[in-house]
Amino acid sequence: MKPIEIRPGVWWVGVNDRVTDRFEGLWPIREEGISYNAYLIKDEKSALIDLSKEMLTDDFIAQLAEVFDLADLDYVIVNHMEPDHSGALVRLLELAPRATVLGMPKAIGMVADFYGLTERVERLKNGQELELGASTLRFVYTPFVHWPETMMTYLVEQKILFSCDGFGGFGALDGAIYDDTCADLGWFEAEALRYFTNIVAAFSKSVLAAIGKFADTPIEVVAPSHGLIWRENPGRIVELYQRWASYYNSPAEAGITALLGTMYRNTEHALSAALEGIAAEGVPVRVHDVRVTDVSYILSDLWVNRGVLVAAPTYEGDMFPKMMDVLMMADRKRVTRRQASYLGSYAWSGGAKDAFDRMAEKMEWQVVSGVDFVGGPQATGLARARELGVQLARAVKSAG
Ligand code: FEO
Repeated sequence: MKPIEIRPGVWWVGVNDRVTDRFEGLWPIREEGISYNAYLIKDEKSALIDLSKEMLTDDFIAQLAEVFDLADLDYVIVNHMEPDHSGALVRLLELAPRATVLGMPKAIGMVADFYGLTERVERLKNGQELELGASTLRFVYTPFVHWPETMMTYLVEQKILFSCDGFGGFGALDGAIYDDTCADLGWFEAEALRYFTNIVAAFSKSVLAAIGKFADTPIEVVAPSHGLIWRENPGRIVELYQRWASYYNSPAEAGITALLGTMYRNTEHALSAALEGIAAEGVPVRVHDVRVTDVSYILSDLWVNRGVLVAAPTYEGDMFPKMMDVLMMADRKRVTRRQASYLGSYAWSGGAKDAFDRMAEKMEWQVVSGVDFVGGPQATGLARARELGVQLARAVKSAG
């Protein structure tokens, strides 16, 4: 894509990544892609805010060259040192011999650790301002959104917040870069939720602290370093992030995420009965088959729904392995304080139910009920499964 002047003297110079299979080596983006947004401010002095991943350095530098001669660059602002934003730094500094790298003290330490750069760097203080001419940049320390060195940069006169990972989302930009020009805002919001749960949710308290730091700051444009630029409704993505972050210790939404693992369909049949019970209570439910659906997508539902139904059989005296993988990632991402039930089959000895109870305790999930049965569910097991669904749905409704 060509550079786009988003406000006078402020240019989006981002690049799309449509070739990486998994972001951070973990999260699937092969279909969705991701953008690494960078921003150029041209004033009496010039500044580049965030860069790109190393493998896209050639694209990034070619993109910049369309609107700017890097020989004239004064500052590189490192909001966040993770290499998806800083990978182009070494090459860029070779082409910009005047430029100084600015970042929070921890970021400057990481610049040395990752790239061996110890010269032409300057440590910023929280709240420090930098005059570029008619433009003033203010640097606000927002640790752990996403790493400990992370800051956000605010362009005072134009009220633009360059928020880096904060308010970002998966999804390459399909020609349009704004919330009011993209083809499918709902899709980008869903990808923002997936990004939030995969990347940022474990640091929800830090997200809320960062949002609090800008409570009295007028913001006309939210310009993250992944995903859409929010100019028509900048408050929308801030509200979404605030709501999602609040779910780390609040009841979340009145829905249920049903997770299915099954070998010979006995647990699947029991789950169907449980879903009938949930439906009878009018609680929305999303079913994920953990055997085939990547946990990246499951986390979005686990995060927003306050109910969880784990339906999986015993395998070798323990939880069905694919289900355990999901539960361990849920714990890692701090999906806490949910209403939860277990349902599953075993052949000769149980084990999955006990494993579920241990994981539920670890995540502070309130266990509403647990039903395991030997072999097939039979009529009795199906009735117990249906009742389990009813009880879980009622618990979810009353937990709000
Ligand atoms: Fe987009 Fe935490 O890097």
